[in-house]
Amino acid sequence: MTAAMDREAWDRRYADAELIWTAEPNRFLVSETASLTPGRALDLACGEGRNAVWLAGNGWEVTGVDFSEVALEKARGLAAARGVPVRWEAADLLAYTPEPHAYGLVTVLYLQVPATERRTVLRAAAEAVAPGGRLLVVAHDASNLELGYGGPREPAVLYSAQDVLADLEGAGLQAIRAERVQRPVSTPEGERIALDALVHAQRPDATD
Ligand SMILES: C[S@@+](CC[C@H](N)C(=O)[O-])C[C@H]1O[C@@H](n2cnc3c(N)ncnc32)[C@H](O)[C@@H]1O
Repeated sequence: MTAAMDREAWDRRYADAELIWTAEPNRFLVSETASLTPGRALDLACGEGRNAVWLAGNGWEVTGVDFSEVALEKARGLAAARGVPVRWEAADLLAYTPEPHAYGLVTVLYLQVPATERRTVLRAAAEAVAPGGRLLVVAHDASNLELGYGGPREPAVLYSAQDVLADLEGAGLQAIRAERVQRPVSTPEGERIALDALVHAQRPDATD
């Protein structure tokens, strides 16, 4: 599938007036970043903006990037409803070079793409992290297919925290946390557990 076909498929998915995800931020974004001092943040594959909007509401100066214009339009609506400023950028992440070493926080949440594409995006994400800044990657874990709830059914787009660490090797970041985490999901049949891969890493400060 080409990037244009991928984008059209996402645009069709987002076409419904309702949010396809939720307006609430991801629980791991909240728990991993709540204690950080706000600065510039970059949310790659921001979708309908729930995470970027939450960061902006907590004092971050946020840029959200996604290739789906339809998702970004919904993200603009969410930011307006919450009264927070976010800079939205439409771009294909496979050809996107963020400002290097510029962001106190870079987030990539649930970008489920094949390994070569993932590596391209994650290495660009890592390069964007400022000295002392953080990178947070959360994704549907490879083991979720057999052991967890929901998520994509295509094994090629699932990955583990170890896969992320391998992608980031030599990128100059130090892992703070890299593991499989449980995400409880409310379903009509009761609570189910989804398994996510989580990597939280830091670029050492010049004084470290
Ligand atoms: C599962 S959604 C996650 C959205 C958001 N991070 C969240 O947690 O709510 C994945 C997002 O990745 C975006 N995406 C996938 N491939 C992309 C690419 N090559 N360039 C830019 N965005 C991409 C899709 O448009 C979609 O919004």
